[in-house]
Amino acid sequence: MSGTQGITGFQLLWWVILPYLALTTFVIGHVWRYRYDQFGWTSRSTELQEKKLLKWGSPIFHYATFGAIAGHVIGILIPESWTHAVGIPENYYHWFSAAAGTAAAVGIVVGIGFLAYRRLFVPRVRATTSAVDWLTLILLAIVIALGIAETVGVNLLGSAYDYRQSVALWFRGLFVANPDVRAIANAPLLYQVHATAAWAILIVWPFSRLVHAWSYPVWYLWRPFVVYRSRVAAHPNEPGTSGRRWRSIGTRY
Ligand code: HEM
Repeated sequence: MSGTQGITGFQLLWWVILPYLALTTFVIGHVWRYRYDQFGWTSRSTELQEKKLLKWGSPIFHYATFGAIAGHVIGILIPESWTHAVGIPENYYHWFSAAAGTAAAVGIVVGIGFLAYRRLFVPRVRATTSAVDWLTLILLAIVIALGIAETVGVNLLGSAYDYRQSVALWFRGLFVANPDVRAIANAPLLYQVHATAAWAILIVWPFSRLVHAWSYPVWYLWRPFVVYRSRVAAHPNEPGTSGRRWRSIGTRY
C-alpha cells in the first residue's frame, strides 16, 4: 500500500477500513434488500401527497446531481495524467470544473430548496418521512453542503486545492487495493469530512429509499409499443335495428 509508512492506526481505520466496510455494506445490503424486500424497493414517492413543488424540485435536483456525479468521474476517477495526455492543461481543467461545478451547485441548491421546503412544511409529505429518511436527508445535506463549499468556496472563489493530486489518489487506490492514505490524511478537513459523510451515505443507501436509483425504467426504451386505436364516438344502435337482430331461441345465426 503506497503511503502507509508512518500512518497511524486511526488513519488506517478511517481511510481504509471504513471505506471497505462501507463498500461491503453497500453491496451486501443491496443483495439482501433485493432478496427480502422487493415490495419495499421503491422511492416511496410523495407525488400523491404534493405535486406542484415536486414537479419543479425533483427534475432540477436530479439533473443537477447528475452533473455533479459526472464531475466526480472527470475529477476523481480520471487521473490528472490522462487529461494532461490529451492536452488539457491544469488551469483549463480548473476553470472548467469551477464553472461547470458552480452551475451544478446552483441547480442542486434550487432543487433541494423546493424538496426540503415540501418535506419540512407540507404536513402530508412530512407525515410520510421515516427515521431512515431523516438520516439519509441529513447525510445528503452534509455531503452536498461540503461539496459545494469545495467547488464554490475553494475552487471558484478561494485559492483552489488540487484534489486530483491527493483525494483522487486515495479514492482510486481503494479500488486497486492500494489507497494513498497519507494523501487523504493530509487533505483539508473539508475534503475529509465530505468523503467520510459520503461513506456513511453508502452504508445507509441499501436500507433507504435511495435504492430507487437502480430502478429507473430504462427498459421502457426497448419495450413493445402500446397500441392505441382511435374510437369514433357514436351512439349505439337502437336495440333490434343493427345487423344483429334478436332471433328466436334455437334459430341458427
Ligand atoms: C468518497 C467519495 C467522494 C469523494 C472523494 C468526493 C470528492 C469531492 C470533491 C473533491 C469535490 C470538489 C469538486 C470540485 O471542486 O471541482 C466534490 C464536490 C461535490 N460532491 Fe463529492 N465526493 C464523494 C462523494 C460524494 C457523494 C456520495 C455525493 C452526494 C451524494 C457528493 C456530492 C458532491 C457535491 C454536490 C459536490 C459539489 C459539486 C458541484 O458543485 O458540481 N460527493 N466531491
